[in-house]
Amino acid sequence: MRILGIESSCDETGVALVQADAGAAPPRLLGQALHSQVQMHEAYGGVVPELASRDHIRRVLPLMQQVLQQADCALEQIDCVAFTRGPGLAGALLVGAGVACGLAAALGKPTLGVHHLEGHLLSPFLSADAPEFPFVALLVSGGHTQLMRVEAVGRYHLLGETIDDAAGEAFDKSAKLLGLGYPGGPALARLAEQGQATAFALPRPLLHSGDLDFSFAGLKTAVLTQARKLGPELEARRADLAAATEAAIVEVLVKKSLAALQQTGLRRLVVAGGVGANRRLRQQLNAAAERLGLRVHYPELHLCTDNGAMIALAAAMRWQAGLLPAGSRGEGYSFAVRPRWPLAQIDTPATA
Ligand code: KG4
Ligand code: ZN
Repeated sequence: MRILGIESSCDETGVALVQADAGAAPPRLLGQALHSQVQMHEAYGGVVPELASRDHIRRVLPLMQQVLQQADCALEQIDCVAFTRGPGLAGALLVGAGVACGLAAALGKPTLGVHHLEGHLLSPFLSADAPEFPFVALLVSGGHTQLMRVEAVGRYHLLGETIDDAAGEAFDKSAKLLGLGYPGGPALARLAEQGQATAFALPRPLLHSGDLDFSFAGLKTAVLTQARKLGPELEARRADLAAATEAAIVEVLVKKSLAALQQTGLRRLVVAGGVGANRRLRQQLNAAAERLGLRVHYPELHLCTDNGAMIALAAAMRWQAGLLPAGSRGEGYSFAVRPRWPLAQIDTPATA
């Protein structure tokens, strides 16, 4: 079974092809291509939805051709076309969904509308050190921060989530306050490497709340207050403030992840989403895992941020598990995207 995956939920156009066989063997990646719109949105300090949609239109077909060439696969050899149904930007999602359903209709093959977060949380299954079910998943992206108990493909139980900003958003907004470009997360992390994390005492929101929820909006305000206090001194202290910000976010993520493992009695953690690329987060989780005899799995670095491979993979694993996402199977190839789609409602039918 060869599944083509198309991701277009935000500012990355990703296309990939995976091979999945019936049974338990993890699907294999046959080819993938990605175009990031970061440079285009940089001038505006964030993603401009209309520009994102138009760029997806320009990129998706050339990327698909690239992937098929890489994999030495003819269009007719594709057995199924998967696409990100949501959550994400409505216009951007419609591009991927439209192309996927158009292609599937032309080929007479089925389509699968995939949940973007399911793609992220299954993405470590494409790495050499693939996890085993069940596990706790820490999903940390630009729009989401969630801890989940994952029993199997399609069986996700929410343990806790952010009540305001996501971890990636905290990175991005703090980076903006420090005068770093967009997207701020990687830039802030790079600057933090030259700074002293203990130079400023920033809050660790909800660290001792006793539950597994997060809150990052207050941290951004604390960074702003600190930056204002520094005034002209900020320039010289930027690396220290970046390091302190990163340390605050990472400490909360690590402590809550460990608490989730303790609460569920599970000994395996999967980290997914863009913030999962953060080096300090990985170092601290790895150190804690070694100390406590736990296992931590990450997607390969290039699969941490949005990509087509995780969408093709999620569709492949659903197919292997005998689960087809709601609204799939190409009913007349009409389609609906779901810009807002809680993972807990993954199996409710897609309505426009
Ligand atoms: O998963 P993703 O690519 O897109 C969403 O679905 O949101 O995540 C993007 C987020 C952005 O907020 C970005 O700043 C953050 O991940 N990010 C990082 C790093 N790399 C990406 N944050 C901290 N450290 C990094 N190294
Ligand atoms: Zn994402």
